[in-house]
Amino acid sequence: MTSEFRASGLTKTYGSNVVVDQLDLAIEEGEFLVLLGPSGCGKTTTLRCLTGLETPQDGTIAFKDRTVFDGQRHVNVPAHKRNIGMVFQSYALWPHMTVRKNIQYPLTVRKMRKDIAGGAVEAAAEMVDCGKLLDRYPSQLSGGQQQRVAVARGLVAQPDLVLFDEPLSNLDARLRDQVRSQIDQLHQNLGFTAVFVTHDQSEAFALGDRLAIMKSGKIALYDTPEHVFENPASEYVAAFIGMGNRLELRRGHDGWITSANDLIDLRRSVIRGLADEGAAAVARFRPDDLMLHQSTDEVPAGNVALHAELVTYEYGGRHFDVTVKNGTEALTLRANASEHSAALRKSKPGAPMVVSFSPSTLRVFAVDEADQTAAAQLTPENAAVTV
Ligand SMILES: Nc1ncnc2c1ncn2[C@@H]1O[C@H](COP(=O)(O)OP(=O)(O)O)[C@@H](O)[C@H]1O
Ligand SMILES: [Mg+2]
Repeated sequence: MTSEFRASGLTKTYGSNVVVDQLDLAIEEGEFLVLLGPSGCGKTTTLRCLTGLETPQDGTIAFKDRTVFDGQRHVNVPAHKRNIGMVFQSYALWPHMTVRKNIQYPLTVRKMRKDIAGGAVEAAAEMVDCGKLLDRYPSQLSGGQQQRVAVARGLVAQPDLVLFDEPLSNLDARLRDQVRSQIDQLHQNLGFTAVFVTHDQSEAFALGDRLAIMKSGKIALYDTPEHVFENPASEYVAAFIGMGNRLELRRGHDGWITSANDLIDLRRSVIRGLADEGAAAVARFRPDDLMLHQSTDEVPAGNVALHAELVTYEYGGRHFDVTVKNGTEALTLRANASEHSAALRKSKPGAPMVVSFSPSTLRVFAVDEADQTAAAQLTPENAAVTV
C-alpha cells in the first residue's frame, strides 16, 4: 500500500550542521503520527521542510503520486500550493487581522471564492468554540483562544496534511489539557492526517496513533504508544518516555550487581555480549515502580530490595516525591503521604531507607554510546528474580 504522504532521504543542513539527516517519514491516510524528540533534534526544521517554508538540500516529498519536492530533479512546489495546514508553537496569528481574517488566510492565499470561504471560516471557528470571537483581534484573546484560532486556521482549507509544532507548550497546564482534548476530538470527527510534534511524552502517548521517536535529525524508531511504553527499544527511548531511574550494573557470578553492591538476579539473562562476568549494562525503570518501605519486612516476595539513603523529599498533597541514592545513582519514587509522612518528616538526608522494585519493571540495555542497543534488551519474560 502506498502511504498517503511520504518523505524520503530528507536532508537539511545549516553550514556544517546537519539538522535533518536523510530522514524517512511515511504517514497513512487519517493517521495521527506523533513526532517525539528532545529540543534541538530537528523537529521544527523537519516540519518546515514538509510545508515548504524551508528548502532541503536533498530528498523527496510526495502526496500519494504527487511529488512536491525532489532535490535531484529540482522539483519544489511552493508552500501555498502544497495544501498543508500548520499550527505553530507561538500561534503566529497576524496581529493586525481580526480572527475572521486570520482563519480565512489559508483560503485567501489559495484564492478560494469568497462565498465558500465565508461559510468555511464560520464553521472552523465553531469547531474550536471561537464562533463569537470572529471580529476580535488576537491581542483581545487569551493564550488558549489564540491557539484555538490557530488550530481553526490550520484546518479551514481541509488540508491533505496538518502539521502541529508543539502547539500546547506555551499554554498553562489546565488550558493545555483542554486544547489537547479538543485537537483529539477534532481528529476523531474530521479524520484529517496529522503530524504532531512534541517533546512531552504524556502528550505523545495521549494523542498518537503511532509514535516516531526522533534523534539527531533521524527517526530512531516507529512504534505504537503501548509498545514504546512497555518495551522501549533503547536506553535513549527509555529515558525519554519516563524511565527516569537508572542503575549502572556489572555482571557478577550470580547476576547483576549495582554500584552499591546489591545483587539483582535476572534469571536466564544470558544475552549476547552481556553474559560475561564483568560485563557492564544499564537498567532503566519508572519512578512509579520503585516502592518505599518502613522496614525490610514489608518488601514483597520476589522484589529486589536496594540499600538506599535519603537525599530529599517534597510534599505534593497525597504523595511525597522522594529522591534516594543507591551507591552513586539517584533514584526517585512517589510515596503515599498518609503512609510515609511521619517517617519522612523525621528523616534527615543520609538516613538509611528501604526501597524495592519488581524485576519485571526493569529494562536492561548494553552500555553503548552509539545507542545501538535494541538487540540487547531483556524482555520481561526472562527477567524473573529471586532476592
Ligand atoms: N535557520 C537556522 N539557521 C541555523 N541553524 C538553525 C536554523 N534553524 C534551526 N537551526 C538549528 O537546527 C537544530 C535543530 O533545530 P530545530 O529544528 O528547531 O529543533 P527542535 O524543533 O527539535 O527543537 C538546532 O541546533 C538549531 O540551532
Ligand atoms: Mg521546535
